[in-house]
Amino acid sequence: MKESLERLTGIGNRAGSNLPDEPTIGRNDRSVSPAAIASVQDQLFAPGKSSRQKYAELVVGRPGIGALIKYELIVMLAQARSGAAGLALRKALYPLLLGSCGPNVVFGQNVVLRHPHKIDIGRDVVIDDSCLIDAKGETNRGIRIGDRVFIGRNTILSCKNGDIELADGANIGFNCEVFSASKVTIGRMVLMAAYSYVIGGDHDFSDPARAVLAQERVSAGVSVGDGVWIGAGAKILDGVVIGAHAVIGAAAVVRENVPARAIAVGIPARIVGSRGNTDP
Ligand SMILES: CC(C)(COP(=O)(O)OP(=O)(O)OC[C@H]1O[C@@H](n2cnc3c(N)ncnc32)[C@H](O)[C@@H]1OP(=O)(O)O)[C@@H](O)C(=O)NCCC(=O)NCCS
Repeated sequence: MKESLERLTGIGNRAGSNLPDEPTIGRNDRSVSPAAIASVQDQLFAPGKSSRQKYAELVVGRPGIGALIKYELIVMLAQARSGAAGLALRKALYPLLLGSCGPNVVFGQNVVLRHPHKIDIGRDVVIDDSCLIDAKGETNRGIRIGDRVFIGRNTILSCKNGDIELADGANIGFNCEVFSASKVTIGRMVLMAAYSYVIGGDHDFSDPARAVLAQERVSAGVSVGDGVWIGAGAKILDGVVIGAHAVIGAAAVVRENVPARAIAVGIPARIVGSRGNTDP
């Protein structure tokens, strides 16, 4: 799993990274690539589709009555079951829905999986109560969770035709959101404090005559390097690259790239220091 994540994300080894070494804030590449993303209303109220079809497209992610029945049975038996029996049921049954799942993975109560066949999980992972792991999309690979990852309760990993990679040892706090409409990578041993938000997608708002919602969705993705600490309530906007071992202050709004080992705080985030040039 570790090797495959490195291959997929390039976040295991930063030797070839283009990130600047000096702790100065840099502009990120705003040349976003458009992604064909329908609004949820368009998907929910699409004419000519039955409720079952829409549910299967949004939640199950696979065609056919067999996939739907399997998903429903497992959810009905295991998802909301409390206590140790619930933990045991989910441990036994959720892997049957997933793309792959290593040993010793704990799924808390009411963990919801969408498009689960596009979710791969390593070993020794905890996904706490009420998390949503949503790999939705038609052409995406989905969500990869490495070994020894912890995901705190109420956290949402949400794809809209994008991919999310959480590398080995990442720790995502309570009530966080990681959204991807293209590609979001969270490096090894990243610590994301509670209520932080990685926003790997955006809206075109160039036409003032039309609602933003009616305009195109765009996404450049986000990359958070190995060992980064993201403070509570921070927001990392689309297109940003955060270099390895950087620190992002609580409540920061990060719009520009942050170099490796820099300390960035505030709205918009500015660099106030560096953790030095020696790799930890
Ligand atoms: C960023 C942080 C790590 C401190 O880093 P530091 O290098 O020690 O920074 P300092 O305390 O020397 O402050 C440097 C400057 O940044 C400002 N600053 C520090 N943290 C800030 C924040 N979160 N937001 C805005 N400004 C901040 C300071 O006021 C100071 O400003 P000044 O130079 O104008 O006086 C810390 O303030 C922080 O935000 N920690 C996150 C805590 C958290 O979320 N914990 C969750 C548990 S996992």
